[in-house]
Amino acid sequence: MTVTIVGAQLGDEGKGGIVDLYGEPADIVARYQGGDNAGHTVVHDDVEYKLSLVPSGVVRGKTGVLGNGCVVNPRTLFEEIDALQERGLDPDVRVARRAHIIFPYHRRLDGIEEEAKSEDDQEVGTTGRGIGPTYEDKAGRRGVRAGDLANPDILKERLEYAVPQKRALAEDVFGVEAGEAFDIEALYEEYREYGNRLEREGMLVNAGDFIASALDDGKKVVFEGAQGTIIDIDHGNYPYVTSSNPTAGGAATGTGISPGVVGGGEVIGIVKAYLSRVGSGPMPTELAGVEGDTPGYEGEAGEQEEELAEFIREEGGEYGTVTGRPRRVGYLDMPILRHATRASGFTGLAVNHVDTLAGLEELKICHSYTLDGDELQTVPATTEQWANCEPNYRRFDGWENIDWEAAASEGYDALPENARIYLDYVSDELDTPVYAVGVGPSREETIVVEHPFE
Ligand code: GDP
Ligand code: IMO
Ligand code: MG
Repeated sequence: MTVTIVGAQLGDEGKGGIVDLYGEPADIVARYQGGDNAGHTVVHDDVEYKLSLVPSGVVRGKTGVLGNGCVVNPRTLFEEIDALQERGLDPDVRVARRAHIIFPYHRRLDGIEEEAKSEDDQEVGTTGRGIGPTYEDKAGRRGVRAGDLANPDILKERLEYAVPQKRALAEDVFGVEAGEAFDIEALYEEYREYGNRLEREGMLVNAGDFIASALDDGKKVVFEGAQGTIIDIDHGNYPYVTSSNPTAGGAATGTGISPGVVGGGEVIGIVKAYLSRVGSGPMPTELAGVEGDTPGYEGEAGEQEEELAEFIREEGGEYGTVTGRPRRVGYLDMPILRHATRASGFTGLAVNHVDTLAGLEELKICHSYTLDGDELQTVPATTEQWANCEPNYRRFDGWENIDWEAAASEGYDALPENARIYLDYVSDELDTPVYAVGVGPSREETIVVEHPFE
């Protein structure tokens, strides 16, 4: 049986923690898209693990698979594996032979294009990991796949074809110096070594066959989504998106397991009890703003709104893990969640950060939007329309801080009544049961209503 974990909003909903919780009885945790643009947090025995590429399950000794839908930077992969080994773990990670490889020139081009776009305030605010350029080469049929790293002749041939084009793009189109990231010989030597290590350590697999045979043997598989629905390349707010499909369909195409199997299992939508966003693009329920990220924002929000945004940021730790920059935050948005529920077919919800909101007198949830005099229940298809949506709010009474860990062991009814009213509204609107409620970062601070594997 499979359980698929999908970000219902804009990423950073707390997927890693839920993969850790629900992955306990699983044998395999497979990622199906994205690369080291992800940052998934797992807290185990008071130790925090921040994983960008290695699937979250490996912290608990599960086999981790990077499916064909992923883009893999071998430098990051081995750095992360080596760092986990230094911390006393023995990570078992397999990489799909069909997964595409991120090269230094992809990262460089990611930065070059963002820089060029920034001249007209059009930058996406990418993570700079080369994700978009690598998926471009995949679609353009000039990519290098993990399986190619183990075949020196093919690796050489592919680099000799692709790299001169990339160099010309950097130099002749963008007018920048290409540099060593475009040196075919150096790339070949370094990446051949990665190919050797992948082979030597038995890491390369045909992911579809590998996972299917585990399922045939009655094993349990978690598909771990990265990013979230509103930054999905198809269903998100294009062009302020990542270049893959975090929605549930991606779990099938990104692993080689049929949509029937994915849909026949459980699909859990991970929801943050408010919203956070990294990077640019619209956000109708945003509180105050972050200069440089919020389009057109120049610090003009009212004091009350700034205070609330500050409160949520402080309580929820909404600061970039690498840069320390404040994340954009906002009220929960039901049109986003209706859109996500339709696109992925959630069978259950995990709502995180309910503790973060404790102590506020009142809260609001955006029930619908008004656009050009019409009421909308879901997200419009163009980003420009979305930016013009006015939220229609419902008001909710706030709840107090309690002993969250005690509540987690007692169950859903131990939550403050107003928190239950808030959660019940979300569940009713989406016609989807709440399976879990996050009341703190660790597994022990999660209320489990349903366990999808039980
Ligand atoms: P992911 O990318 O979806 O896996 O989420 P991240 O790990 O990027 O961000 C979630 C952050 O919130 C991490 O620091 C988690 O430890 C933390 N977190 C997750 N769930 C909860 C929760 O219910 N309450 C609180 N206070 N923190 C949480
Ligand atoms: P997890 O898995 C939040 C955002 C970037 C940018 C856009 C495109 O931790 O939830 P990219 O580098 O992917 O081309 O950037 O997507 N983004 C994320 N935001 N959480 C993530 O991952 C993200 N991965 C990418 O900020 O706006
Ligand atoms: Mg994250």
